[in-house]
Amino acid sequence: MNEVYEFDWVKVADFDEMSSFAAKLYERQLLRKPDSVLGLATGASPVGFYEKLVERHAQGTFSFAQTHTFNLDEYIGLQPSHPTSFHNYMEEHLFTKVDLPVTSRHLPDGMADDLNEACLRYETLMRISGGIDMQLLGIGINGHIGFNEPYTSFRTRTHIVDLADSTRTVNAKYFPSKEAVPRQAITMGIETILEAEQIILLAFGEQKVEAVERLKSGVISEDFPASCLHRHPHVTVFFGK
Ligand code: PGA
Repeated sequence: MNEVYEFDWVKVADFDEMSSFAAKLYERQLLRKPDSVLGLATGASPVGFYEKLVERHAQGTFSFAQTHTFNLDEYIGLQPSHPTSFHNYMEEHLFTKVDLPVTSRHLPDGMADDLNEACLRYETLMRISGGIDMQLLGIGINGHIGFNEPYTSFRTRTHIVDLADSTRTVNAKYFPSKEAVPRQAITMGIETILEAEQIILLAFGEQKVEAVERLKSGVISEDFPASCLHRHPHVTVFFGK
């Protein structure tokens, strides 16, 4: 339980190479196990990954027909059809482009009347689906994974979070103003994320260098959420700038 594992570090030449490598891992996963449960992420980091995955899927070698997907997080208070909701992001980048059944696509319900119940329901759904085989992650400049901000307990399951001011500042580029960025979200917890069989972290660009260095130090601490990944035996980190 308290073992510390080294990551499989993969330095990439550019964003395109990172996207191809990550898409290849997902393709291989689906070829090996067509009924895989995939953990997915949103944001700028996986945009190229989805593009490559859709391209490879179009070649017809693998299918999402038996696959289930679970996204890391969703804002609270945005309709799924809202242009900056993560539901909408997934429609745009993946769901409308592959043969993944509508009933197999899962994101937290940030519009639920009872948000705590929505968190529990999400956990139950993941469990019933058999657990996540491969989880994709980005990393925030403050080390967040999903929306687990610094000082989130490593024991958390899917939960409601207050977004860090720095996160709202970074994400303001997708909204008319910072004020329009929701203040809360639902995210898989750290413990939830660590239960995935395999984890793929995308950390490309100048703005991620500091976070990558911090990860390389190997120090595990709740003030830097991604450091929890050193407790997981199968983490691949794609990095570069
Ligand atoms: P990004 O975000 O992929 O848009 O850089 C990652 C994150 O904040 O988790």
